[in-house]
Amino acid sequence: MPLTETVTVPLGARSYSIVVGDRILADLGSAVAGVAKVGFAGLVSDEIVWARYGTVVQKSLEASGFSVRPIILAPGEGSKTLGTVASVLDELLDARPDRQSVVVALGGGVVGDIAGFAAAICLRGITFVQVPTTIVAQVDASVGGKTGVDHPCGKNLIGAFHQPSLVYADTGVLTTLPDRDIRAGMAEVAKHAVIRDPRLFCDLEQRAERFLSGLAEPSEWIELIAANCRIKALVVSADERESGLREILNYGHTTGHAIELLGSYDRFRHGEAVAYGMKVAGAIAVARASWSVQDNLRQGALLDRVITTRFPSDYRSNEVWEAMRSDKKARSGKPRFVLPTGIGNAEVVSDVTHAEFDAAWSATIASANET
Ligand code: GLY
Repeated sequence: MPLTETVTVPLGARSYSIVVGDRILADLGSAVAGVAKVGFAGLVSDEIVWARYGTVVQKSLEASGFSVRPIILAPGEGSKTLGTVASVLDELLDARPDRQSVVVALGGGVVGDIAGFAAAICLRGITFVQVPTTIVAQVDASVGGKTGVDHPCGKNLIGAFHQPSLVYADTGVLTTLPDRDIRAGMAEVAKHAVIRDPRLFCDLEQRAERFLSGLAEPSEWIELIAANCRIKALVVSADERESGLREILNYGHTTGHAIELLGSYDRFRHGEAVAYGMKVAGAIAVARASWSVQDNLRQGALLDRVITTRFPSDYRSNEVWEAMRSDKKARSGKPRFVLPTGIGNAEVVSDVTHAEFDAAWSATIASANET
């Protein structure tokens, strides 16, 4: 019997389960049959994930009676376009789906975002199941119903909220991820800990290397992913549409998105950019005396263990500031920051000045040069 843990996202009639388990992909079909009518299933994946797990997933769905159409995308953020969504819709509609048909997303955040958006607009919304295969997708992107694609004007500018009916996270696949992707995923885990969970933070301080170096047991991975899903589930159920509390999940993202943009989305992994953004936010909060030097040092020490790529000291503070001002989350050209107030707590502010940001950027470069 595989090890599993189930977390519920409580959203009234749209509540759903996140099943977290070790080597559970072969049992996916019966789980999907529990939330969708057995019939047509569009199975969206990318070439890399498909080569590894496509067969086992397709067979499992077929064994439960689904008629499966694989829809395989090119890997990477470059696929997150309306053009890709149009081609996914062509494939789905060609199979004559009905409102009870299901779209299954097998892959990381990019696959989930595209497949979820196609499911959201196909016949004005059909059932959607997330099968996330990266840490970032398991702890963040697959939970909460954000779906969509990029536009030349910016990342994630087109999309819809469309909650999945099931998230099915196999932690067994995580150990095959490249080292850099494991580290980037663990940065998102550290983000959750700083904004919401002091116990998780202490736990990471104790044993981050067990996860980073492949020593963690399956039960430890399940516990870690489920703990993060619980945080995400609580925040999403309190504020599904990001009109308040959910904004705290954007910790590190204000500067992080700007760093990703300036790196043309291929210099840094999303999680690496978020880690740098957390450091800058921490420096701003310290300068405001809204969190302690000691907590900032603890955050910095943990992030330095997790992320091994260098902080982008070559970016000028002005260009980062301008990129932040044009982000979709800025309001009237003012970047909105999530700032920590203690390990486990954070607040959203929109009054960070250019001068404060400059000082924090320089302080972060100085501390990166010390390490
Ligand atoms: N990734 C942030 C959110 O889901 O709100």
